[in-house]
Formats: sequence, C-alpha cells, structure tokens
Amino acid sequence: MRQPTDLENLAAQPIAGADELAGAFAVQPHDALKSADEHARVFSNLSFGVDFTDYMAHATWTAERGWHNKVVEPYGPLTLDPAGAVLHYGQETFEGMKAYRHDDGSIWTFRPTYNAARINMSNRRLAIPEIAREDFVASIVDLVRADARWVPSEPGTSLYLRPFVFASESFLGVRAASRYEYLVIASPSGAYFKNGLQPIDLWVDRQYHRAGPGGMGDVKTGGNYASSLLPKVRASQTGFDEVLFLDAATNTNIDELGGMNIFVVMADGSVKTPVLNGNILPGGTRSSIIQLLESHGTPVSEETISLQSVIDGLASGEVAEMFACGTAAVVTPIGRLASDDFDIEVPLGDVTHAIYDELTAIQLGHLEDRFGWLYKIADAS
Ligand code: COI
Repeated sequence: MRQPTDLENLAAQPIAGADELAGAFAVQPHDALKSADEHARVFSNLSFGVDFTDYMAHATWTAERGWHNKVVEPYGPLTLDPAGAVLHYGQETFEGMKAYRHDDGSIWTFRPTYNAARINMSNRRLAIPEIAREDFVASIVDLVRADARWVPSEPGTSLYLRPFVFASESFLGVRAASRYEYLVIASPSGAYFKNGLQPIDLWVDRQYHRAGPGGMGDVKTGGNYASSLLPKVRASQTGFDEVLFLDAATNTNIDELGGMNIFVVMADGSVKTPVLNGNILPGGTRSSIIQLLESHGTPVSEETISLQSVIDGLASGEVAEMFACGTAAVVTPIGRLASDDFDIEVPLGDVTHAIYDELTAIQLGHLEDRFGWLYKIADAS
C-alpha cells in the first residue's frame, strides 16, 4: 500500500471547527454590496473565474508584526507601489479551493488543511513567511460566511476560492521582501472548460518545459503558470485545449499539464500517474483520486511514464483512457494527444466518469465522506 505524502500527513492533522476559527478575520463594513440584479446576472451564466463576490480576506506581514490586520474587507482593487517586489521578481504563491452548497443549504469545503499545508510548502520555497494553518482556514471561513449568497447550488457549480500571497515591499534589489500581503478572493463558478465535461485535446510540447530539476515545479507559484503560457498560446492556435509538458531533464517523460495533473487508465484496470519527481504539483485532486481508486482495490502506480509508452499503449490498446484533474478542472477526459510527429485519438471510458462521479458526490454530500475530507463552513442560513 502506498505511503502517504508529507502533505497528506500534514493535512490529516486535526483542526478546529469553523465556529471556533471564525472571527479571526474581522468583517469590515461594506456600503456597496452588489445588487440582486447583478447577483442574478452572475448566477444566470456561471463560467470560470470571471465574476467576483462582495468581499475579500486580507492580511499583511511585516517582520515587526508578523501576519496582522486580518480582515474581510470589500472586494476591490489593491494599491501597490510600482516598485512592489512581486511585479519585478514574481515572489508569490497561491492556492485553488472550492466551497460547495449541499442540498440542505449548508456550505462546505474540501480538504482545506491540504491547501494550508501546500501554501506553506510553496511559501518556504519562495522565501515567503508561512501562514498559521488556523489563520488560513479561518480566512476561508470568514470570507465564505460573509459571501454566503455567492455560493451556487446548481450541479457542477461552486464558489471558487483563490488564496494568494505576494511580496508587497517597494524595493528593486533582488532578495526576499520584507512585506507581504495575503488575500483570498472568491468567484462563483461553473465548469473550468467552456465545453464542460467534453474531452480535451492535448498538445505535447517538446520545446518548452514548465519547470525543471531544482526549480519550482512542485509548488504553486505564478512563475510556473507564466512559463506555460507561450506553449499554450501556440497550442491553441492549432486547436488544442491544453499542453502536456515533458520532464525538462530528459524531454521524454510526461509531467503534467501546467494547471492539472494527468492519469493514464490501463486496459487491465490499473491506473498510472507520473510520480511526484519534484517538478510536478502535488495536486489535492490527484491525491484524492489515488486514495479513492486504491480504496476500491484499483492498483495505482505513481511512476515515471515515458511519452513513448503512452503512444505505444494507445496504439496497442493497452492504454484505455486518460484524464486530467485539478481543483478547477475536477476530472476532465482527454480525447486526443498530438505533437509534431504523432496525432492519436484517446478512447473514452467509464473509469474517468466513475471517478468524477464519486469525487463530486463526496464534495456535494451525496456520498459518505469516508476519508474525512469535508469541512463544514456554515449551516444553511
Ligand atoms: C486549480 O485547479 O484550482 C488551479 O489553481 C489551477 C488553475 C488551472 C486554475
């Protein structure tokens, strides 16, 4: 049986309930809440990450005071000096989470302690001060409670949460900054891909890598996503939805999609995913899927997967399905894999759909939460 990762062990440590944590981020007065008409407009057409709520959580770090000024304040533009360090050297980290409305109206989130542990892993790599996990979870609780009317209930929808930290010191020398801002913003969202659960087409990029050995590929920082954008632009010009990146050391093994991890379902029923080799983000959805599959007796192997073995497996029928996963994308079937010298249709199958159904049923409270992943933010109001 697979050993839990450090992040999984940290995430499993108990944390206080929402009522106990609530109030750490004091809700500030808001004199311009969005109108009922604006709310109805947003909810009538939920896409991904386009519309935002009334509030945002915010705290500041200085060496003298640590994290302080913890508030939930009206959502709005930030004031940042043009010399703000993040604008020059990219010292920032972020997370992706979701709040779900259950059928009884209560609001829940999924594995928040995993995100708390991971943002601190990212912060350590970027020389950013850590955030107490209680403060991290409290910021989610206080923000979502203030923004409760923005948590949608339709199937496939959620309130997407984006915690992030950035260097706000005004200074152009290259060193870790002496001032940081932590924020959480929230966006009522539908499916990440505009075609919902339709299979996505992947371009395998052989020229560019999102991360390399000793780099930052295993933490969540904007730079990794920035490096994925040019390959993505080029791939979309030829009709592809996403890029599959190969490992930078050998340019032969599959790593991840940049914003999503990848799984390969074999015809014998086993499942493979690239091993966490230091260049791959340890996705919370990835971790959950591995645990769900193993709990059903499906053999899951985290291993180095060569692109050639995938191409050969698709040709021979040994590879039965492939899917991508992430908080935003949930579980998304892959329908085509191509590069300069191959173009293969990827079969669709039941494992992808079954794992999507099981994961989302747990998140929505329709299936027993066997792993204790759900965290209650608020009762129905
Ligand atoms: C998420 O899945 O939440 C991410 O942060 C990745 C991004 C593609 C939205």
